[in-house]
Amino acid sequence: MLDVVYVLDSAQRPCKAASPSINETSFPSEKRMSIKYELKNLANGKAGVLNGMSGTIGPNVLDISHLTRDFGVFTYDPGFMATASTESKITYIDGDAGELLYRGYPVEQLAEKSSYLEVANLLINGVLPTREELDAFQRSIMHHTMINEHLLRFFQGFHHDAHPMAMVSAVVASMAAFYHDTTDIRDPRHREIFAHRIIAKLPTIAAAAYKHTLGQPFIYPHNDLRYCANMLNMFFAVPCEPYAIDPVVAEALDLLFILHADHEQNASTSTVRLAGSTGANPYAAISAGVSALWGPAHGGANEAVLTMLDDIGSAANIDKFLARVKDKSDSIRLMGFGHRIYKNFDPRAKIIRSMCYRVLDKLGKSDNPLFELALRLEEIALHDEYFVSRKLYPNVDFYSGIIYSAIGIPRSMLTVMFAIARTAGWVAHWQEMVSDPNMRIGRPRQLYTGAAKRDYQPIAKR
Ligand code: ACO
Repeated sequence: MLDVVYVLDSAQRPCKAASPSINETSFPSEKRMSIKYELKNLANGKAGVLNGMSGTIGPNVLDISHLTRDFGVFTYDPGFMATASTESKITYIDGDAGELLYRGYPVEQLAEKSSYLEVANLLINGVLPTREELDAFQRSIMHHTMINEHLLRFFQGFHHDAHPMAMVSAVVASMAAFYHDTTDIRDPRHREIFAHRIIAKLPTIAAAAYKHTLGQPFIYPHNDLRYCANMLNMFFAVPCEPYAIDPVVAEALDLLFILHADHEQNASTSTVRLAGSTGANPYAAISAGVSALWGPAHGGANEAVLTMLDDIGSAANIDKFLARVKDKSDSIRLMGFGHRIYKNFDPRAKIIRSMCYRVLDKLGKSDNPLFELALRLEEIALHDEYFVSRKLYPNVDFYSGIIYSAIGIPRSMLTVMFAIARTAGWVAHWQEMVSDPNMRIGRPRQLYTGAAKRDYQPIAKR
């Protein structure tokens, strides 16, 4: 039973709306500590001050790092609904406005004008690269695409029907056993080599996983191709005939990758940070992120959306399906809808939906029945009180599976594609964390509700 009541009160709540600056590398501490809150234990009258912190934009946070020392309590926040786990300069989301910024740049502008490798460089380094810097980065990425032949043989150990995400996560973790020249995470050059290597090799690993499921020979990377064109070649070329890379498909892939490149402290990125915070080998940390991404509540949703659309079958069945979704005794969800942060349109979903029209049209697949069904499902859901009242909108995965499928990516590879794209974000966050001299191991606390201390009973007495 609780016998202590705390009152949390804010003394002042300035709302900072300064425009983000890529050159701003640190905030003066006075700025960060300008807001104060009072926390009072109503049972004994003990009060204390908690400092608020304000970032460049976005909600203020409350610094509770001394809460346990000063008040003897921990915070309780299942699912981290109200917890900022770190300070970060990489990505900003305004969930109410449906806004996403990478290093301050709106994702819409990057989607229109940039390329995936430029975005990866931006995420990792914080500034848009010059022509020379970008050329050097692209050259470095495209000259680290091969994987060690011994690592390639790992795939032979997997069953033919192993899920590609299982293979990718295992092989990425295994990279820690091969690349020993990047193990000093305190050395910036080691970190850079790791970053280039993982971004360069993940498409090769993904393609090897795909070829293994098909039973086809592995296709080696071509370093004279661009990042996404090379990936398509490794996925779809076979040694016995020429394969022509469709520039429309390569461009669509590059755009999808930009949209998936980062999303601040999401589940998989937080997993990479947590695993990396122990000082673990960075490949192992990225592998942990791949595993976390796989779940249907996260990156696995793109595959789940297509399965759901197949199950619904036709527009005539939408009402029946949504009735099940709204029925609390049924665990089924409208996949590709809802988001922890976005309580308005996910800006990425908007871009991907309009891209669907363009790409399907260019590929001569405008009458795609899954796309038609998804559009109708979205329209009905967005007018339904259940979804309206809960602010549930299509997220990035509602349409991404349709477009990936239209460009020939098989369903089991959809989350792998997401993993390749998100690697840029994972690397940027890992770099940000380990280059911070104040990095600490991530170690949350708990509210223990198990048995109190008790004595062991011999088996005969139980
Ligand atoms: N379908 C039906 N109801 C939903 C959905 C959905 N897709 N999403 C949320 N709700 C309902 C919940 O049942 C809950 O209702 P209640 O208040 O009556 O209990 C309310 O909306 C809030 O939902 P939570 O689960 O508390 O929201 P949370 O922030 O924890 O979950 C999540 C977010 C996991 C994305 C959720 O919306 C979901 O499961 N969506 C479907 C899976 C999906 O598309 N995931 C991809 C997300 S994008 C990404 O990770 C790349």
